[in-house]
Amino acid sequence: MQLGPVKTHGRTQNVVIDVDTGVDDALALLFAVRHPGLRVHAITCVAGNAAVEQVVRNTLTVLEHADAPPIPVAAGAARPLIAPPHDASHVHGRDGMADLGLPPSPRKPDPRHAVELLRDVLRDAAEPVTLIALAPLTNIALLARTYPEAMQRLERIVVMGGTASTGNATPVAEFNAWHDPEAAAIVFAAGVPVTMYGLDVFYRVGVAAAGCDKLAAHEHRSARLAGQLLRHQLRTAAGEARTELGMATIGDAGAVCAVADPAGLVTAHLPVQVELAPGFGRGQTVVDRRARSGEQELHGMAAPAARLDVAIDVDAARYGDLFLSTILGEPGTS
Ligand code: BDR
Ligand code: CA
Repeated sequence: MQLGPVKTHGRTQNVVIDVDTGVDDALALLFAVRHPGLRVHAITCVAGNAAVEQVVRNTLTVLEHADAPPIPVAAGAARPLIAPPHDASHVHGRDGMADLGLPPSPRKPDPRHAVELLRDVLRDAAEPVTLIALAPLTNIALLARTYPEAMQRLERIVVMGGTASTGNATPVAEFNAWHDPEAAAIVFAAGVPVTMYGLDVFYRVGVAAAGCDKLAAHEHRSARLAGQLLRHQLRTAAGEARTELGMATIGDAGAVCAVADPAGLVTAHLPVQVELAPGFGRGQTVVDRRARSGEQELHGMAAPAARLDVAIDVDAARYGDLFLSTILGEPGTS
């Protein structure tokens, strides 16, 4: 069956998406290819939630379920720049996508490396392109170092990563930043505007259990897949705070909502440094929210920090409605 049309307002935005699919990356992809205000030019894969080969398989499976148009999908880095890889199968399942037993996709990956694919898409783009980075930033750091001129062609990067408060991989570090802190530091300092959609907003956007059931019972397999993935979020630690409220978090998909509908996100332009030293703080995104400078600056000890647009608040109901209505192909309530 066909899903209904979704209304959009404003210009179509050209995007490329970097993923470590991933239950919530899958939700993000289902949303991105359904939203009429977004045109997805490429999807690049990186090791994170699962090994990169599995991430590619999962991504192709999601696109097939979504009846997405042909979109090039390329494999990228199999491990972080310096640290060894650590998957998140305890959260996302052995196959990285909730172990739903889905059949393999007939779609094939693009033969180019992720970095080459990004270089080509950015070189050929006639209009501005936004990068939505939902995974450890290894591929993007490699792009910055290998093809800096291509990187500079990005209009902006919306990063799911980091936190101005509590972490998840460690008490202070969010998983994507913790998995490859050196990559995050390189990307933040690359001179491209970055919006940091971090844990301060990440867990707050969700779909209520009734919405999950509606999706899971839908005739279209794209909506059914979203429902199954959200039920996984409800069952596992992946849902975190929202699970306690009977809501399944949409996770990475919230960062795509922030591109489709920027008015739902509140940001502050703040200096951010990534802690690279070994030890308890590694991978922490140190966000400077002080109203005035302190001893570090007075004594000339402050290291230069990139200023990012840090997400500090979100209209969670608005993005939850946007996600659900887009996947269902129905008008939203906000
Ligand atoms: C991030 O880490 C991954 O587990 C999720 O897919 C998300 O990108 C949250 O810390
Ligand atoms: Ca992810």
